[in-house]
Amino acid sequence: MVILVGLPARGKTYISKKLTHYLNWIGIPTKVFNVGQYRREAVQIYQNYEFFRPDNQEAMHIRRGGALEALKGEVFFIESICDDPEIIEENITVREPPPGDLAVPVSPTHRGGGGRPGIFNVGLRYLVNRVQDHVQSRTVYYLMNIHVTPRAIYLTRHGESQHNLQGRIGGDSGLAPRGKQFASALAGFIESQTIRELKVWTSHMKRTIQTAEALHVPYEQWKALNEIDAGVCEEMSYEEIQAHHPEEFALRDQDKYRYRYPKGESYEDLVQRLEPVIMELERQENVLVICHQAVMRCLLAYFLDKSAEELPYLKCPLHTVLKLTPVAYGCQVESIFLNVEAVNTHRERPQNVDVTREPEEALGTVPPHY
Ligand code: F6P
Repeated sequence: MVILVGLPARGKTYISKKLTHYLNWIGIPTKVFNVGQYRREAVQIYQNYEFFRPDNQEAMHIRRGGALEALKGEVFFIESICDDPEIIEENITVREPPPGDLAVPVSPTHRGGGGRPGIFNVGLRYLVNRVQDHVQSRTVYYLMNIHVTPRAIYLTRHGESQHNLQGRIGGDSGLAPRGKQFASALAGFIESQTIRELKVWTSHMKRTIQTAEALHVPYEQWKALNEIDAGVCEEMSYEEIQAHHPEEFALRDQDKYRYRYPKGESYEDLVQRLEPVIMELERQENVLVICHQAVMRCLLAYFLDKSAEELPYLKCPLHTVLKLTPVAYGCQVESIFLNVEAVNTHRERPQNVDVTREPEEALGTVPPHY
């Protein structure tokens, strides 16, 4: 259990929601509990500041009860400390107050570098004590990388490729004519947005690099952004996979997130591969990521807190830019189709998948998740 502590308007809700998205995405199921909610349920009479007086015995009893109710299991404390009045003021204006929240005026307190772990003034300084396990260490690392500077993240796929036209998955084909048109349209769109210090990232694959080339700006290539590796099914059409590897095809439909192509990857693998990309996206400000269908679904799922069930079916059509803007406790998404037609590469979730064979027999490989 991770416990966020701090005075009002120090970003506790913001930090806990963000951390929850991250932990869920890396496969550690997490939920946010708000101790204030337990307290509010227990309290009907004290609708004023008297409730928070430390010498109010009865109220202290109720508050302790609420805390104990929310508190079960091992704990890791994180304190958000902020004494910059401007940041606090902004926090109060930006956040949506939870229903029935009691507004209690609190003057910012000065804190030294004492013995409590904490995040000082939105990441100006950190104090870390006794990190005891892997999850705690990843939590600290994550919190040291996030920031609250306003920015936008643009996600798009490459322009339509030769393989897209033929309905083939994977491979490393170049752009088809409409794909090149999209690349020019993307250049125009990016220019029209007048984005401050935009970073452009691509995968190592031809189709994303050719798309970025049209922008005539520097870009960075990430191998981690390469499309999902379909192993023995690379460069086949869905129909060919169904005809040649019917059981594999059905197994994928049964659990698309965990299914791993023989000699290839699963969506779950892809999320692990993309973790450094997410961390760097958190550190950066304005970024345009030119990637692939499966990769874009994974990145989008992180920002929109989508479940493993939904993730492999998120709609990421070709020639469409998704603009993500952080808002109070989440992300606003704007979908911009750049008016260049393209094939539809989205395969809907099929109904009633029937698998008659044990997966261990599948092409001599054993996906570790089964
Ligand atoms: O069809 C384009 C593509 O990017 C393929 O290269 C890739 O295997 C596929 O989409 C991923 O989508 P899905 O997981 O729905 O098959």
